[in-house]
Amino acid sequence: MDRYAETSGAYDLFNAAYRPAQLEALDALRPLLRPAVGPILDVGAGSGANSAWVLDEVPGASVFALEPSRSMRALSLARVTARPDWFERITIRPEDFFSATLPQHIGGAILLGVLGHFDAGERAAVFAELAARLPEGGAALIDLQEPEIPGRVEPFEFTAARIGELTYRGIAEGWRIDDERMRWRMSYLTLEDERVLVEDTTEHVYHHPARALVIAEADRAGLRAERQGEDTFWLLIAEAAR
Ligand SMILES: C[S@@+](CC[C@H](N)C(=O)[O-])C[C@H]1O[C@@H](n2cnc3c(N)ncnc32)[C@H](O)[C@@H]1O
Repeated sequence: MDRYAETSGAYDLFNAAYRPAQLEALDALRPLLRPAVGPILDVGAGSGANSAWVLDEVPGASVFALEPSRSMRALSLARVTARPDWFERITIRPEDFFSATLPQHIGGAILLGVLGHFDAGERAAVFAELAARLPEGGAALIDLQEPEIPGRVEPFEFTAARIGELTYRGIAEGWRIDDERMRWRMSYLTLEDERVLVEDTTEHVYHHPARALVIAEADRAGLRAERQGEDTFWLLIAEAAR
């Protein structure tokens, strides 16, 4: 089952409002990337925007991208197809994080929009795998999505754009499940004036761990968490082996 089938309909458009903040966080990651050590790991690469950022911005870097959703992977592949000069520099694998054979050494990692798919045990395993592969001083970029404490989130519009004759609207709504998890309902609409032409709705269970908990989990794996700007983006920097 492709859990991102509905989301992939116009992913970059619906992500557009968040993109400037993601780019700012990627800029903070840039000086910590070590492309000579190994590929940059992009976990849950989605439409490939972050992999493309690496290929564009980091000379000599290669990318090892994981994207288990068929529809999201198609977006990544389309982006790369437009750039034959990238073919030697990126691999887009269909496995998820725990099924993939990861490179022994990585020059950095990007996990944007994906950490919430992991529970506490899985986060510990992900952090351990990253720490074992990053060089000392190398880093992974993660984001922790709002709200920090699960609660009811009334429906809100997160994207509205007009392209040609049609309007695109994204609407999100959330419910608390327990102290860490929320159920999110996302609706992606395409409208012609008031007439709805496409309405894709999907639900995800997403983890919203407290910042302090993630900092402690990362620390146990040998990764020092450093906040970037607001509370959303964090660099996990590999410390010397203890
Ligand atoms: C919200 S999207 C984020 C896409 C992209 N990283 C970005 O920032 O735009 C989350 C992505 O994570 C992928 N994903 C979910 N669980 C995963 C797992 N266990 N391993 C790797 N990727 C996963 C989904 O298929 C989806 O494409």
